[in-house]
Amino acid sequence: MTETMNAWRRETYGPSSGVNLEQIPVPAPHRGEVLLKVRATSLNAGDVRLLLGDPLLVRPVFGLTRPKHPVRGMEVAGTVVAVGPDVVSAEIGEEVVGELVGGGGLAEYVRVPASRLVPIPPDITPEAASSLPIAAGTAWQALDLAGVGLRGGEAPRVLIIGASGGVGTFAVQLAALRGAEVWATCSVRNAPLVERLGAVRTFDHRVSPLSEIPAARFDAIVDIAGGMPLRELQRLVGHGGRVVLVTGDGGHVLGPIPRMLRAAVLSVGSRSIRPLAATPRPEVLAKLLELVADGRIVPVIEREYPFAEASAALAHLEAGHAVGKVVVRGSGV
Ligand SMILES: NC(=O)c1ccc[n+]([C@@H]2O[C@H](COP(=O)([O-])OP(=O)(O)OC[C@H]3O[C@@H](n4cnc5c(N)ncnc54)[C@H](OP(=O)(O)O)[C@@H]3O)[C@@H](O)[C@H]2O)c1
Repeated sequence: MTETMNAWRRETYGPSSGVNLEQIPVPAPHRGEVLLKVRATSLNAGDVRLLLGDPLLVRPVFGLTRPKHPVRGMEVAGTVVAVGPDVVSAEIGEEVVGELVGGGGLAEYVRVPASRLVPIPPDITPEAASSLPIAAGTAWQALDLAGVGLRGGEAPRVLIIGASGGVGTFAVQLAALRGAEVWATCSVRNAPLVERLGAVRTFDHRVSPLSEIPAARFDAIVDIAGGMPLRELQRLVGHGGRVVLVTGDGGHVLGPIPRMLRAAVLSVGSRSIRPLAATPRPEVLAKLLELVADGRIVPVIEREYPFAEASAALAHLEAGHAVGKVVVRGSGV
């Protein structure tokens, strides 16, 4: 085992152009942790937020003046190469996947709490597995919060706003799998993909505004793109319907907080608006891996980058038009 490794780091907040490949010590796993040789890391819009330290609201938690986690990458698949004290749930040589709170995946090795990891079934590639913990996990939790598929009765009609990105491509598939009639917004170029994933109707709201849709058309709305007035979203759900806000839409300082407060005020009544704060859920990740293994959902991976080009992967995500997931393969893979 080598003592140093390559890692993509940015010591200060700023754009992906300032991320550099550096040699740093290989971390030792602490109590309850394992060390993974990284096979694949998926990137998320949250990586861009933490890279930029924007909104400023994230900095008290993730580093006031500089990032506490200078290595981005929060969804990782890898091979267990060392185990720390008190680890009973993982073995050396096991292929696992999980969420890294804060980051660390754009490196050759990363240490992770063993309790957050799930074994990867044999037929699933590390790239596909790494796309699940945050993106599909968030989509799953958003649909739960929206009550989609949790009540019996007729198929609910669900609107997914922003259906073509990492979270959106899973939200469409999972909503359809839960028996919903899925409507979705996305740009015209992504409509064929979103329809193949299970949406019965797609539209670009920049061309056909949501204001043209009659009131109370949906049982639930999952807003992954933002930018729509809350009252407009609320108008579109029927009595007992629910709007779930996934996106951290908002300003440079407070981010989503003002919109969340407005949502709380507007939620008095029968059409509630709920902000989602997704958390690592290994039991959900295990179910998602089963769905992929059974071919019932398919991760949409727009681009896979070799480890040496991880900064280009971050730049692609930063541009804001990723389709599905962006994955960086581990060094030497
Ligand atoms: N609440 C939580 O716990 C939680 C967890 C995870 C993620 N999130 C948030 O969820 C959002 C999505 O994350 P992600 O990783 O899926 O992002 P992503 O993959 O970077 O999303 C990019 C996609 O969004 C589409 N898009 C952007 N603006 C749109 C709009 N106004 N209408 C329709 N589509 C639009 C883009 O399509 P075009 O190219 O056509 O513009 C692109 O395909 C982010 O705001 C992220 O911070 C929240």
